[in-house]
Amino acid sequence: MSKEQAPRVAILMGSKNDWELMKPAAEALDQLGVTSDVRVISAHRTPQRHHDYVISAADRGIEVFICGAGFAAHLAGVTAALTPLPVLGVPLDSSSLDGLDALLATVQMPGGIPVATFGIGKAGAKNAGLFAGAILARSDDSVRKALDEYREAQTAAVPDTPVLAD
Ligand code: RP5
Repeated sequence: MSKEQAPRVAILMGSKNDWELMKPAAEALDQLGVTSDVRVISAHRTPQRHHDYVISAADRGIEVFICGAGFAAHLAGVTAALTPLPVLGVPLDSSSLDGLDALLATVQMPGGIPVATFGIGKAGAKNAGLFAGAILARSDDSVRKALDEYREAQTAAVPDTPVLAD
């Protein structure tokens, strides 16, 4: 096994309580052989940590951000304001509004600072991980091959008929 690569994708989340929902993003990237840097960073609770991390990320080899947050989710938007790197936003269902608040907050960026917004919760996190892989795959044959294999395995796992109970 080759030595671990430097992280190419940063996975940020506003709270340690978001990790269960965001884990599928890291798992998807793992499956593609892409190392991620997973951090609890909040745009409103740790603004200085957020600023320092984001503005130095490109120099450390980060190519894509995935940002997950709940409630009035501004983590992805503020991250996108601080970096020209692509930012993928994952609205999290951690509030009493089940993530609808975070979805609207993340997707409704005013024109000029784009955030690519995914579905609410775990499925959105998984797709954000796969999408980050697809971005890297454009210039990395090993990630492209891993993405092809992932798709093939997924297709092969779909049965022709449902398993019927006796
Ligand atoms: C957001 O507030 C976080 O992304 C989290 O989803 C939500 C609640 O945070 P905790 O109170 O659980 O730490 O900033």
